[in-house]
Amino acid sequence: MNPVANTDPMTMPSAAGSTGPGLRNVSTGPGLRANAGATGSGLRPDGRVAQAPRQQYLDLKANVHRKLLNRLNLEALAQSDRARAESEIRTLLGELLAEEGTPLSLGEREGLFVELLDDVFGLGPLEPLLRDPSISDILVNTHKYVFVERGGVLERVATTFQDDRHLMRVIDRIVSAVGRRVDDSSPMVDARLPDGSRVNAIIPPLAVDGPLLSVRRFPAERLKADDLVTLRALTRPMLEFLAHSVRARLNCLISGGTGAGKTTLLNVLSGFISERERIVTIEDAAELQLNQEHVARLETRPPNVEGKGAIRQRQLVINALRMRPDRIVVGEVRGEEALDMLQAMNTGHDGSLTTVHANAPRDALTRIETMIAMGTTNLPERAMRQQISSAIQLVVQQTRLSDGSRKVTSISEITGMEGDVITMQEIFVFEKMGVTQDGKVIGRFRATGVRPKCCERLKMSGIHLPADMFEGVTEVR
Ligand SMILES: Nc1ncnc2c1ncn2[C@@H]1O[C@H](COP(=O)(O)OP(=O)(O)O)[C@@H](O)[C@H]1O
Ligand SMILES: [Mg+2]
Repeated sequence: MNPVANTDPMTMPSAAGSTGPGLRNVSTGPGLRANAGATGSGLRPDGRVAQAPRQQYLDLKANVHRKLLNRLNLEALAQSDRARAESEIRTLLGELLAEEGTPLSLGEREGLFVELLDDVFGLGPLEPLLRDPSISDILVNTHKYVFVERGGVLERVATTFQDDRHLMRVIDRIVSAVGRRVDDSSPMVDARLPDGSRVNAIIPPLAVDGPLLSVRRFPAERLKADDLVTLRALTRPMLEFLAHSVRARLNCLISGGTGAGKTTLLNVLSGFISERERIVTIEDAAELQLNQEHVARLETRPPNVEGKGAIRQRQLVINALRMRPDRIVVGEVRGEEALDMLQAMNTGHDGSLTTVHANAPRDALTRIETMIAMGTTNLPERAMRQQISSAIQLVVQQTRLSDGSRKVTSISEITGMEGDVITMQEIFVFEKMGVTQDGKVIGRFRATGVRPKCCERLKMSGIHLPADMFEGVTEVR
């Protein structure tokens, strides 16, 4: 008998359907949770890799796990209530452990119990990681390796899956819950967990060594403006300059790599928009958490299983313009919507904010140019650049440094065009000066001394910035 085929919880729609992909519905009681990672998967209570768990324990676990899934009537289990299901699993586990004859500590026993519940009702080995609020990313590289990011630092954890089929079942469970599937015909999928976490799965043959799963956790609470100053992501004058720029309706582009903190900064800057304005937000996955009362939130829709029904960002931007917005905030421009966005910025919908994936302010503009070119065929280069230079006033570069810290490494102003070239000037910059022995980045924020041209525009909005705002150096060590 093939244990996998017969015991696969995924073959039971009711099991997946009634509980969804774990998370919310998995409640095993606080006592059990505390044990979950610590005993079962060789994680210390703080989640880091402890010394290798006893091989004997691992073998026993695999064995009991297989037998248990074989004997359980999962269909009936999923239909009965959770408490009954749990008690049935517990009884069976007791019997099986008695048969095995390997003594287990109480902690190991509970760990095993929780792992089994996680497999039957949730996302298996991912559950303990999902329960840990300090983890911001979970990266599964085939069934063998799992990495997490905590406080900006990537580390390997002891979590593993039994084999790639086990991992595929978990991936299936995640994507089927949002009406998608992953197989030969669609080997790359984006999905979302019920808590808002974003998931990407890519499977062989595109993924060479086995399925790859990347989970970007939805942060429970976004960092606030003051947090960014405390974390030395930027200085108080930089923050104030940005806040005034947003209030004065400058169009701002936040540029940065994946995980650099773009969305966090976008969220903070959007917070400076007045309560009296109507804000329309457009995102691929609604991540922004704005506190203003008057926010209309829009989100794109991926195609369904038949590849139909997708609603793209561009359509939402066009629709947003008919919604009488005072401000349009686009989570991240990625493609064809760039031109519509710029046109909107150029035609009265100023004060718009967005982010773009790029590693330097200049690259950010090139990226946008490429996006415009993708969307239209006939706009000459010069015209494109003119659109960009008149639409965007500020480019804020957000960077994830080698020690995991995130900083605003440049605030630049677009000043116009010289010939065919967009001209920019840097107003604030972070200069890296070295690294301490334990890897921490040393550097300084420097105001370049340039008094930005946009000060004139700020003045028209009644905002008078002190000249010394654009001078001075702040060391970071
Ligand atoms: N300035 C910062 N200092 C420390 N952590 C930050 C900072 N900005 C963002 N983060 C954290 O970094 C992670 C990625 O941030 P996010 O804004 O989603 O990045 P991006 O949108 O660029 O991918 C989140 O966990 C967030 O809380
Ligand atoms: Mg983001």
